[in-house]
Order: sequence, then structure tokens, then C-alpha cells
Amino acid sequence: MKCSFEIVVLLLFFLSTTSVNGEIPPKIFDVTMYGAVANGEIDNAQVFLKAWTDACNYVGRSRIWIPKGTYLLGSVSFIGPCKGSIIFVIKGILKAPTDPSTFFTDTWIGFRYLDDLVVKGGGVLNGQGSSAWKYNDCQRNPQCKNLPVTMRFDFVKNSRIQSLKSINSKNSHFNLFACYNMNISHVKLTAPADSPNTDGIHIGTSSKIKILHANISTGDDCISMVAGSQNIEISDVSCGPGHGISIGSLGRSLAQQHVKGINVRNCTFTNTDNGVRIKTWSPSLYSVASDMTFENIIMNNVRNPVVIDQQYCPAGGCPVESESSVQINDVTFSNIRGTSSTKVVVNLLCSRILPCKNVKLIDINLAYLGPGGPATSMCSHVIGSSHGKQIPGGCL
Ligand SMILES: *[C@@H]1O[C@H](CO)[C@@H](O)[C@H](O)[C@H]1NC(C)=O
Ligand SMILES: *[C@@H]1O[C@H](CO)[C@@H](O)[C@H](O)[C@H]1NC(C)=O
Ligand SMILES: *[C@@H]1O[C@H](CO)[C@@H](O)[C@H](O)[C@H]1NC(C)=O
Repeated sequence: MKCSFEIVVLLLFFLSTTSVNGEIPPKIFDVTMYGAVANGEIDNAQVFLKAWTDACNYVGRSRIWIPKGTYLLGSVSFIGPCKGSIIFVIKGILKAPTDPSTFFTDTWIGFRYLDDLVVKGGGVLNGQGSSAWKYNDCQRNPQCKNLPVTMRFDFVKNSRIQSLKSINSKNSHFNLFACYNMNISHVKLTAPADSPNTDGIHIGTSSKIKILHANISTGDDCISMVAGSQNIEISDVSCGPGHGISIGSLGRSLAQQHVKGINVRNCTFTNTDNGVRIKTWSPSLYSVASDMTFENIIMNNVRNPVVIDQQYCPAGGCPVESESSVQINDVTFSNIRGTSSTKVVVNLLCSRILPCKNVKLIDINLAYLGPGGPATSMCSHVIGSSHGKQIPGGCL
């Protein structure tokens, strides 16, 4: 019987060290083993960085583990490249400092130069923005200093962000720059409707990005995509309050980086300032924004449901007689329905010197129920066509 006992022990050992598909399980780097304190008062930045360094140097799969509890965390950057893949599991609540001296960095939690990263866990990122928003003077001061973005991904590829909550970011919740092949799913991002510049997800110079199953309620764009955003798929996002899903503002910098291949599908906007919007500066540098589809969209009491604005200059308006040099073409708005809180429900204002080309309006059914109705649409310098139901009609 001794022999079979040994076989059982061996078998148990084998089962405990291999997962079902025979892979070696990841090595765990639990931050509490490094001395992390979950009392919400002691800064854990150095401890988290120590765990990161060990995980990043481990040849194989690492799992950084942040258990339940509230961890005060100062500004940190988790920098690669790493020797293996990293799963960053946040079960607890990470709390940003409120000390004003730490406000003006560009990042609260950064991930940089990484391949094969997963950030997940169902935990919460609390940016504690309410004490900081009053220092945001970017509406009045062009030299304003930026508050930190909650989570920044720079030069990250083949990676996933899933099942996270972010509340009261000081600036954007998530920012992607120079990223490739990333999926973002099941995230919930919230900040008050009047909090400044709290974009949900801001994307630039990045391609092959998927965003799905997200609930975003914030003070600025739910999702914004600027120069160099290419091959972006957005679906099942509910947005509101917020400023909608925006492409732009384009044409002020990085003009050589075109915007191409943006698909927004199956999204709902509730009480937002805008629904789907493309905006460019005027005047602007030359670039092209093309191949954009907005399809199966529900608008609930949205102020400006469908917008192309090539005269976008938020502070003080565009110079008189200026025109945008961003060429917009191949844009489809299809199956867009619901209600608007203002009369002009489709407003396509393109550039006089470079009119929008091949714009399609397909099955539009948008109602305005307030005084001065019914709804109307406006198109200027747009070359395109309309198909199917058009309520209101008369634009293309
Ligand atoms: C993203 O999701 C798609 C399925 O929608 C999958 O094929 C792809 O491998 C995922 N990419 C990453 C980096 O996880
Ligand atoms: C988003 O909201 C919907 C409906 O309110 C809810 O069913 C869903 O679970 C939410 N998703 C997340 C990721 O919070
Ligand atoms: C959008 O919804 C339609 C109808 O429910 C579904 O067939 C389609 O696959 C969805 N598309 C995306 C990109 O989620």
C-alpha cells in the first residue's frame, strides 16, 4: 500500500503545481508579503514598486496580487520590459493622495514598455479628485499644469484591462499612448458631471484597441480618440453623463498621424452633452480622418446627438474666416435613434476648403420633444447620401 500512497502524493503534487491545461501556474507576488499596509494612510508606493521589480525580473508568468483592503498609493510607474508576462490583480481599493504637492504629475499609476500585461481583479482606483479639481484652470490658462491621469498605458502591447472600477479621477481615468492590440472590457468609470477633464478613456497614437462592456459616467468625453488612433472597436458602452464619444480634437498637433478605422457600435448615451462627435480645430494642420462607423446607437435626452464640428475652438471660438485642413471622409451614421434635448439633432459642419466626403446617414430616427420643435438637421460642406428612414430629413 506504501507504493500507491506515494503515487497519490505525487499525483496531488502534480495537480497542485499544474493547471488543467498543463501550464505552470504563475508565481504570486503578494504586496502584503512585501509589507504593504492596507490602512488607507501609509503610502505603499515603494512597496508596490519592490513587488513589481521582482515580478518583472521573474522569468515566467508573474501574478502581482493586491488583496482586499484600502491602500494609499503615491504616484508609481511600473516600467518594463519584463522577463515574462504579468497579471496585475487588484482586489482592493487603491487610493490616491490628496496632498496638493503631489497633484501636478502626469500620472498616478503608470504602465510603460510592456508586452502581455493583464490588469484586472474587480478592485477600485479612487483618484480622490474632488480636492484637486479646483486647481484645474485649463479652460482659462493655456499654460495650465495637468493633474495626474489615474492609469496611463504608454508603449503597451498585446494586453488586457478588465473588471476594474475607477472613481473620481483627477484628470482622465485611463490614457493610452503608443499602444497596440489592447482589450479593455467590463470597466466602470465614474466622476461627477461637472468635474473638469475627467475623460473616461483617452486614446492617441495607438492601434488595434477594443473597448467593450463599459459603463462610463464622467465630466468630459466618455471616450476620446485623437491623432494616430487607428483600428479602434468600441461596443456595448453606456455613456452618461459626459460629453459623449469623440474623435478629436484633430489638427493641432501630430498632423502626420491620421485617424482611420473607428467603429462605434451598440452604445447608449444618456443625458450626455454630445452623442457621437468628430471635431477639428480651425485653422488646423492637414491630416485625414477616415473610415468611421457609428452604428446601433441609442440616444436618451442627448443635447447634440450626431455632430461633425470642424470649427471647434472651445476657448473663445475660432478665428473669423478660418477653415480646418483636416479631411474627413467615409463616415457612416447608421441606425441612430432616440431623443435629443435640443432641436438640431444632426449637425454636420464641415470645412469649406476640404468638405467632408462620402458621409452616409442611414436609418436615423431622432426626436426632439421640447418647445420650438420638431427636430431638424443641418449639413454644411458635406458630400454624401442618405438611406432608409430619415427623421428628421432634409440634410443630405
Ligand atoms: C481581444 O479580444 C479578441 C476577441 O474579441 C481576441 O481575439 C484577442 O486575442 C484579444 N486580445 C488580447 C490582447 O487579449
Ligand atoms: C453597466 O450597466 C448595466 C446596466 O445599468 C449593468 O447591467 C452592467 O452590469 C454594468 N456594467 C458594469 C461593468 O458595471
Ligand atoms: C451589436 O448588436 C447586434 C444586435 O444585437 C449584434 O448582432 C452585433 O453582433 C453587435 N455588434 C457588436 C460589435 O457588439
